[in-house]
Amino acid sequence: VTVEYLDYEVLDDHGWSLGDDDLFERARRADLDAETHGRFAVEPGETLLEAAENNGFAWPFACRGGACTNCAVAIVDGEMPPPVGHILPEELIRRGIRLSCLAAPITRDAKVVYNVKHMPDVAEFLL
Ligand code: FES
Repeated sequence: VTVEYLDYEVLDDHGWSLGDDDLFERARRADLDAETHGRFAVEPGETLLEAAENNGFAWPFACRGGACTNCAVAIVDGEMPPPVGHILPEELIRRGIRLSCLAAPITRDAKVVYNVKHMPDVAEFLL
């Protein structure tokens, strides 16, 4: 599984939004640093958070157990199983919000915005 990632914090700076169809094309053109935008492979058995860490990135987390929402990501393209036994409300699940500490994308390619704990709708559920 290959994941292309983007830091939610740059969306604000550039006036981009999660719903923009060409969000990742804009990110590619913007020449962002590797911390903010790039790709990595997720190995079998890894969660998305572990894969990020194993590739040298410090993505946010706290509990690693589905209870705090700090590790939330938005799936823009691809599929990732909704977490089981978690804190996220159905409405956010429907909008593609997932917990990176519990799972990884299951499609061969996925586009993921991390750091969405800073998104107001998600921040409400932060513990
Ligand atoms: Fe707490 Fe994932 S780190 S829900």
